[in-house]
Amino acid sequence: MTMKCVDDYRLNLGGSELVPIMIGGMGVDISTAELALEAARLGGVGHISDAMLPTVADRHYDTKFVKTKLKQYKYNVANTDKSEVKFNLGQIEEATRLHVSRTMEAKQGEGMIFINCMEKLTMNAPKETLKVRLNAALDAGIDGITLAAGLHLGSLALIEGHARFRDVKIGIIVSSLRALQLFLRKNSRTGRLPDYVVMEGPLAGGHLGFGMDWAQYNLVTIVAEIRNWMKEQQLDIPLIPAGGIFTGSDAVRFMEMGAAAVQVATRFTVSRECGLPADVQQEYFKASETDIEVNTISPTGYPMRMLKNSPAIGAGIRPNCEAFGYLLDSSGSCQYIEAYNREVELHPDAKKLHVMDKTCLCTHMRNFDCWTCGHYTYRLKDTTRRNDDGSYRPLSAEHIFRDYQFSIDNKIALPE
Ligand SMILES: Cc1cc2nc3c(=O)[nH]c(=O)nc-3n(C[C@H](O)[C@H](O)[C@H](O)COP(=O)(O)O)c2cc1C
Repeated sequence: MTMKCVDDYRLNLGGSELVPIMIGGMGVDISTAELALEAARLGGVGHISDAMLPTVADRHYDTKFVKTKLKQYKYNVANTDKSEVKFNLGQIEEATRLHVSRTMEAKQGEGMIFINCMEKLTMNAPKETLKVRLNAALDAGIDGITLAAGLHLGSLALIEGHARFRDVKIGIIVSSLRALQLFLRKNSRTGRLPDYVVMEGPLAGGHLGFGMDWAQYNLVTIVAEIRNWMKEQQLDIPLIPAGGIFTGSDAVRFMEMGAAAVQVATRFTVSRECGLPADVQQEYFKASETDIEVNTISPTGYPMRMLKNSPAIGAGIRPNCEAFGYLLDSSGSCQYIEAYNREVELHPDAKKLHVMDKTCLCTHMRNFDCWTCGHYTYRLKDTTRRNDDGSYRPLSAEHIFRDYQFSIDNKIALPE
C-alpha cells in the first residue's frame, strides 16, 4: 500500500479542479491579499477577509476612510453612549470594492480567491451593512464568499438579486449539523444551496462556534455526523473540515473520510505573506501549549483562542467606536463599552484603567495586539529553522502550501 498525500485528491467546485487546500480567512488583514494570491497561484483557494476593510484600505491604498468617520463623530468620543455612531454605506462599499478588485486584478494561476464575511460584524446596522459588503464583493469580482461567524439565516436573501448570485461560489462555516440544517432551511427560499460547507472544530483559531465547553467536541465526530446526514438527504455538497489540521497526513485522514478539501490557517500565520508583524510572528513561534488559552474577552460573546501574552488582554483603552465601531450591535452597544463604562464608574480617578473581562476587539485586532491563534500554535516552532540569534525563520506561503500538498507519513518539511 502506498502512502497517500493531499495531492492525490482534487476539489471540484463548479467545474474547476483545485488543489484541495483552502487557506482560511483571518481577520483584520492577517490573511492578506498576498497570502490569498499565493494560494490561488498554487492552484488552491485563498481567502481575504472583509473585516474592517475601511481601515485595511487606508493602510494599503492610501484612502482616508477612518479619518473621515472619526471627524464626523469627533463630538461623541467622550460619550458613553455610541448608538449614534453609524457607518456610511457608500464608504463601506467603496472600501470593499477597492480591496476586492485590487486583489482579483493581481490574481494568477488556476486557483480561486474567496472573501470571509463575518455576520458578527454588526456595525450598528447588521442587515444593511452586511448587504453592502456582500454585494460590493460580488461587484468587484470575488470568486467566492465564505459566510462566517454567525448562522447567516438571512444572508443569501441579501444577494439573491445580484447578477452573479447563481455563479459565485458560496460557502458557510458551521460547527454543528444543527447550524447547517438551520442555514439550509432558512435560506431554502432563495433556491440556492451552498457550493461548499466548512466544518470548523474546536481547535481552530479566531472565534469558536462552541461555548466554553469546546473541549468536549471533536472535529472527526462533527464531520462524520454532517457527512452521514448529507448522504441520507442525498445532498452532494463538498465538505471541508477545519481546525487543528496541522500536517498533510492530518488532511489525508479527513480526505479518506470523504472530505472534499481542508481549510487551514495556523501554519500560515508564520508565513512572510501573512499580515502579522515579524515580532508578533516570533511570539507565535515561541509559544508553548500553556501559553495559549480560550477566553471570553471577545465582546462578540463567542469564546476566542489567543496567546496569553496578547497586549489586548486587560487593556483598558477608551472604546474607539467613532473610528471603528464594527461590533456595535443593532442598538448601538457593545459588551466592551459596558465593561469599560463600569470600570470608569468604579475607578473615577484612575489614571490607567484595566478591563479584564472584555477587550476592545476592533482596536486590538486592527493593531495586531490580539494574538488569536489555533490550538496547535505551539507546534509552529517545529516547522522551521532558527537563525544564529535564536529567532525563528518565517516561511514562504508556498513552502507551507506545498508541505500540506505533498507531505506523507506525518512529516513536516523544514525550509532549505
Ligand atoms: C490568526 C487567525 C485569525 C482567524 N480569523 C478568522 C476570521 O476572521 N474569520 C473566520 O471565519 N475564521 C478565522 N479564523 C479561523 C480560520 O479561518 C480557520 O478556519 C481555522 O483556524 C483552521 O484551523 P487551524 O488554524 O488549526 O488550521 C482565524 C484563525 C487564525 C489562526
